[in-house]
Amino acid sequence: MRQSLIMGNWKMNGSRESAKSLATAIMAGLKEGDTGIAACVPYVYLADLQELTANSPLAVGAQNVADQESGAYTGEISSTMLKELGCEYALVGHSERRSYYGDTDESVATRFCEAQKNGVTPVLCIGETLEEREANKTFDVVNTQLDAVIEKAGIEALKNSVIAYEPVWAIGTGVTASDEQAQEVHKAIRERIAAKDQTIAESIQILYGGSMKPANAKGLLAMADIDGGLIGGASLDAESFLAIYQSV
Ligand code: PGA
Repeated sequence: MRQSLIMGNWKMNGSRESAKSLATAIMAGLKEGDTGIAACVPYVYLADLQELTANSPLAVGAQNVADQESGAYTGEISSTMLKELGCEYALVGHSERRSYYGDTDESVATRFCEAQKNGVTPVLCIGETLEEREANKTFDVVNTQLDAVIEKAGIEALKNSVIAYEPVWAIGTGVTASDEQAQEVHKAIRERIAAKDQTIAESIQILYGGSMKPANAKGLLAMADIDGGLIGGASLDAESFLAIYQSV
């Protein structure tokens, strides 16, 4: 039985104060022993949140990680730095990184490896654009994105990672994949991994992301291969985020 994971992606939102109050409000809705809940926050709030969430089930993650260990890489943040701030997770390959900042399958695979090197769990984001879906390329795109990481990191590396399937057309648009549309892709991702390693395929958490909200979470999370959610907009509101968490 896979443990579910509900993960917020705050993106570039908030202020130092609002980040703390959002985390405080989320923690207020959790009880001892709760697990499987995390927030990927802007780098600059990690230190505050590490302190704040120290005795809480709420785990903290980053939204990216450098593809280098250290050195002359202006503006980048390494996985050692993330680890030092108590970061459990780092998103890699979010579609906004791929489309606005030039992250390629190759650099995403390197980021994935860098995160793992220092015990930060990479959350590999993959997904097709609307154009690609309409051209019936969904599975090709997702497979290529996944294979790039498997080739670089090796199948064993997937053991300590999470995958997030996020159809680009559903991100921030209010349009969600239907339960069946999402399940179909999640199942295909799991089968692709199973072809290489059955045990890892059965244990890896595959999250759905793209306009997940309290109203649609239950249906999506009930699907056999959907193990949780990566939530943008709705994670900025503690009540909505907790409602999604409670609908698991
Ligand atoms: P959304 O974002 O929930 O606002 O669609 C999801 C994401 O980008 O991870």
